Amino acid sequence: MGGAYHGWSDQLAYGIRVPGSKWTQAGGVPRNCFKYTQEFFPNDLNDLERKLRRNQLRGGTAAVMIEPVGPESGTRPLYYDFNKGVEALCRKYGALLIFDEVVTAFRIGMSGAQGYYGVSPDLTVFGKAVAGGYPSAGGLGGKKEYMKHLSAGIAGGGKHKKALVGGTMAANPLSCLAGYYTLCEIERTNAIPKAGQFGDKLTAGLQELIAKYQLPFVAFNQGSICHLETVGTMHFAINWRKPWRIPAILKATSERKKEMEHMGAAYMAEGIVTLAGSRLYTSAAYEDEMLPDILARFENVFQNVAVKA
Ligand SMILES: Cc1ncc(COP(=O)(O)O)c(C=O)c1O
Repeated sequence: MGGAYHGWSDQLAYGIRVPGSKWTQAGGVPRNCFKYTQEFFPNDLNDLERKLRRNQLRGGTAAVMIEPVGPESGTRPLYYDFNKGVEALCRKYGALLIFDEVVTAFRIGMSGAQGYYGVSPDLTVFGKAVAGGYPSAGGLGGKKEYMKHLSAGIAGGGKHKKALVGGTMAANPLSCLAGYYTLCEIERTNAIPKAGQFGDKLTAGLQELIAKYQLPFVAFNQGSICHLETVGTMHFAINWRKPWRIPAILKATSERKKEMEHMGAAYMAEGIVTLAGSRLYTSAAYEDEMLPDILARFENVFQNVAVKA
């Protein structure tokens, strides 16, 4: 799904951050790498179906991969039934459904975004929380019928050939154990709603500040994923049927990205660590009494923002 970041493996460095951007955000990656990669527009099931139907004539679609809360941690939120719609199309056209739950697993709920949306993807990619802050944070899970095709070593050839999986950092026992105990603790301490409730309060506080200083900003959250949009960098899209517009869009997004990072630096100077100046992820470690101090720091930044008329 266009606009998402699924990591920097070559074939997935496509349509990153700006839906429709294709390879333009992946300097240096040879175009051939994208021979089997396509993107569809977030919230647009018709676009997805058009592509699946067209691919039928060329051997089909191997898999559809999506970030279930929307690209870039839900920067472009999806309507609630969208994931179910994607699942139905995958079943209809015989494509695997892969959920990228690197951000959402054990954050939206213990059963991830798939539990929340009531969808059963064939494969799920995990990261971040899955290793409790330890390195080698990554995981893949899924239905037995597909997982059985993965292999960590030398496998038989021919029909029984397996997908290559490996890596020095893979199957790190320390990270596996840290991850296991983290998940136990998240469940035991009911950390997910606690982090989500703090996300709600933080977002409400930011919205009040935005109104107070009459800034053209938008704050919203999906539980513990909080968005603070100041320049809308990732709300552009590229339409290749109007190619003459593309250079201006790429120019605008890169200029706005710089502004987003300036905001991030200003927050950082106040002791607030954001993701690239536009996203804040709360955890169960936050307590209500911390909120006034956090908001006062944001206020220090907001009161210095000059808005062009
Ligand atoms: C949704 C999503 N998928 C994949 C990744 C890549 O994870 P990693 O850097 O662990 O490869 C990220 C990282 O931010 C992400 O947000």
